[in-house]
Amino acid sequence: MDFRRLAFIVASLLLHGVQAGITSYSDGFGFVGYGIQLYQPECAWACLLCIAPPLNCTTEDMASMAPVKMGVAEGSPKLSSGDGWEVTLNSTPRCQQNNDFFLQTVAYCLKSRCADVTLRTLDKFWDTDGPFSYNGDGRDQLVRRQGYTKVLGAIRDAPTQPLNNTVLLNYTAAVPDEIYQPEYNTLRIYVSNEVTNARYGLVIFLSGIMMPIAFSLLRFLPWPASWVTRFNAYVVDPPAFGSQHSTPVWGLGIMPTRGQALFVAYLCLINIFLNAFGHEIFTPNLTHDSHFYNNVSNRSGVLSFAHLPLVFLYAGRNNTLLWLTNWSRSTFLLMHRWAALLCLLHAVLHSLLHLHMAVANLGNLVYAVDSVQPYWYCGIIAILSMSIMVLASILRQKMYELFLASHIALAVMVIVGCYYHVTLKYRLDWGFQTWLYISTAVWVFDRAARLVRCVRGGIKRAFLTPIDDDYYRLDIPGAIASGHIYLYFPTVSLWRPWENHPFSVAGVMDRSSHTPSPEHVLVEGSPDQEAKRTEQVSDNQGSHTSPKSETASRPYSPRGIGVVLFIRKRDGITSLLPKRDIGPKGLPVMVEGSYSPGVTFLQDDHVSPTHEFPNLICIAGGVGITGILPSLDSFTAVTRPVGRKKLYWGLRTMSLVHSVENMLGYDGKEALNRRWGDVDVTLSVGQRFDLRRQLEADLCSQQGGTTVVVCGAPEMADDVRRIVSGLSRHNSANGPVLVKLVVENCSW
Ligand SMILES: Cc1cc2nc3c(=O)[nH]c(=O)nc-3n(C[C@H](O)[C@H](O)[C@H](O)COP(=O)(O)OP(=O)(O)OC[C@H]3O[C@@H](n4cnc5c(N)ncnc54)[C@H](O)[C@@H]3O)c2cc1C
Ligand SMILES: *[C@@H]1O[C@H](CO)[C@@H](O)[C@H](O)[C@H]1NC(C)=O
Ligand SMILES: *[C@@H]1O[C@H](CO)[C@@H](O)[C@H](O)[C@H]1NC(C)=O
Ligand SMILES: *[C@@H]1O[C@H](CO)[C@@H](O)[C@H](O)[C@H]1NC(C)=O
Repeated sequence: MDFRRLAFIVASLLLHGVQAGITSYSDGFGFVGYGIQLYQPECAWACLLCIAPPLNCTTEDMASMAPVKMGVAEGSPKLSSGDGWEVTLNSTPRCQQNNDFFLQTVAYCLKSRCADVTLRTLDKFWDTDGPFSYNGDGRDQLVRRQGYTKVLGAIRDAPTQPLNNTVLLNYTAAVPDEIYQPEYNTLRIYVSNEVTNARYGLVIFLSGIMMPIAFSLLRFLPWPASWVTRFNAYVVDPPAFGSQHSTPVWGLGIMPTRGQALFVAYLCLINIFLNAFGHEIFTPNLTHDSHFYNNVSNRSGVLSFAHLPLVFLYAGRNNTLLWLTNWSRSTFLLMHRWAALLCLLHAVLHSLLHLHMAVANLGNLVYAVDSVQPYWYCGIIAILSMSIMVLASILRQKMYELFLASHIALAVMVIVGCYYHVTLKYRLDWGFQTWLYISTAVWVFDRAARLVRCVRGGIKRAFLTPIDDDYYRLDIPGAIASGHIYLYFPTVSLWRPWENHPFSVAGVMDRSSHTPSPEHVLVEGSPDQEAKRTEQVSDNQGSHTSPKSETASRPYSPRGIGVVLFIRKRDGITSLLPKRDIGPKGLPVMVEGSYSPGVTFLQDDHVSPTHEFPNLICIAGGVGITGILPSLDSFTAVTRPVGRKKLYWGLRTMSLVHSVENMLGYDGKEALNRRWGDVDVTLSVGQRFDLRRQLEADLCSQQGGTTVVVCGAPEMADDVRRIVSGLSRHNSANGPVLVKLVVENCSW
């Protein structure tokens, strides 16, 4: 069976509006070769499809249903028949099942060509896929007249006269090699290519999941710290080109770090290889070109689909890979964009090749016919939606809410468009839909998990305390969270109730009265710690409750415990909130959370001190302090006598400092150097730190390794990234500089 015939079958089915009830080419669920059996057994399908001679049919049988159009030469041989009979190449299933010569020819072919196939399999093939079950238009269910063994038994002598597909079959024919073999080879190679396509799709999909996990597991091997520092300084942390990572290049796109670039490069290379290789080519009836085009085009179609689950997975807030790796959300969002780009490029290649084939009438595509088919439109809808999504993502920073809403709508159109693109053309038989099912499942999982987190977070009331023109503090009593949370303000964003924004939980507060009168609470999670609480608060040791102990301490916590956020006014909802007259009852807020690291042991819990890395340097810009506090907190360490903790905090006015210190329970002075427990705090108000000088002095004089955490404006993060990787490439007077860099992102 060549593509011409296949296409004719499909085309005639489409033309007749056929959807169900015809022979199933395939069996099972999954992917071709993995759960789905396509054209099995191949010898039997080759017999069935290569026997296409003119048959002597009754007009009644011919009228019963659509002919099995195999695309063989049009125009029946001019042979006179008796009344009510006609000789035709386009015989119907009913005619075939009533024609003993035909049945016997097929049965004998099965017997002689499928020597190694069990009788049971052949019986089943005969019954389900056999010649007479092309129930084309579903008007008329065929009743099988005779079983395989019975037909075979009726052949008295082994047939000798060869089949000739242009001569009336009024004898039982033996199918000669010249007719059978090309059919068989084409079919086998067609199936084998489909299996390869599915396999390569699985390679993309599975390696997109396994590679991040494998790379993250590498860090559990006992590498010497100096190697890791050097490796990170050269291969992982710096931007691939230039000096920008957190700040978009030309405001357009994000330059990956070298580590991210390695994975991107891997994805690109594997995609090129998987599309270029593994094509089996056999061209008995087709020009070389169309066959090769067809292969490459089909391959890119499948590879494009195989990217979809990854695109959805990488994008999710509840991305299982976030729990299994130590890669950050912003890394996965970057991968999301690259995977989406590759997905689009494959789709473009696929459609350009098919367009070319249709225009040049190759591989049995005819532009005038195919371009008006619904499957064609659906493909166009999907690819257009994809392209718009990719282009619009450049604007995401500027019009976030518009971008988000259109992104979701277009994603639905991609899935639906792809679904009908393949379903109208291949029904469900080729298993292409499985990719779409996985993608949808990933998406549904993310949304369901968000819903669960919303329910868990619940609807609370938020109380706002202005700090100065730029910042305010938001207290949400009753909320239990750590890490970061997403907030919905249903009464503020009336027109977009789904709108929500991420914020870092800065701390925990005890709010027993109505006016926010926060007092730092430190609860360590075990009942006997409760007694020590007051003592420790006055002690001012651990500046801030660690995420874990805070959740665990819930049963012992006083009434009215909740979270504190510090928010910087931007242009959207963050600037609308203070304009609301909130009053003493607070503002309704829905809390989705909490998203904290440390869900699984595979993840890095917040940076914690080790013997090799006892020191901590935190660098915060403005409200970025909220992303830093958890790190300061988890660094309350056994190694305290050795390790040093420093915080550099640059901001515009002192009011935010006083407000944060108020929450932490330290009294505010005006000095720029202060201590929070065992943390040396250096402030820079209204001017920038000379980060290079500070970091150089600290890192080169430190005993042991240092963890550097930065959270602030993108420019600041980029500066720190550049300085730290620069410094850690060289030795200082004390030997190698051991550094671990952690960039807490406050935007994506
Ligand atoms: C993990 C994380 C933690 C954060 N923690 C804090 C915090 O503790 N305090 C704080 O003040 N800010 C924090 N931010 C930033 C905060 O989410 C944005 O400032 C806020 O969403 C802006 O809202 P807006 O409507 O005023 O935005 P606009 O003024 O309309 O936009 C300002 C910027 O925020 C981005 N943005 C808008 N909405 C979202 C969204 N839903 N998700 C991601 N980015 C968005 C836009 O792309 C734009 O770059 C955090 C961001 C992240 C990703
Ligand atoms: C077709 O079959 C009918 C009935 O057996 C017969 O009369 C007619 O001659 C046949 N036609 C040919 C071309 O053999
Ligand atoms: C098939 O029949 C046609 C005409 O009857 C003849 O020209 C041709 O050679 C035959 N083909 C074979 C392979 O016998
Ligand atoms: C079969 O049909 C051909 C005409 O196509 C005729 O010449 C031949 O005699 C027929 N053979 C039999 C066995 O009926």
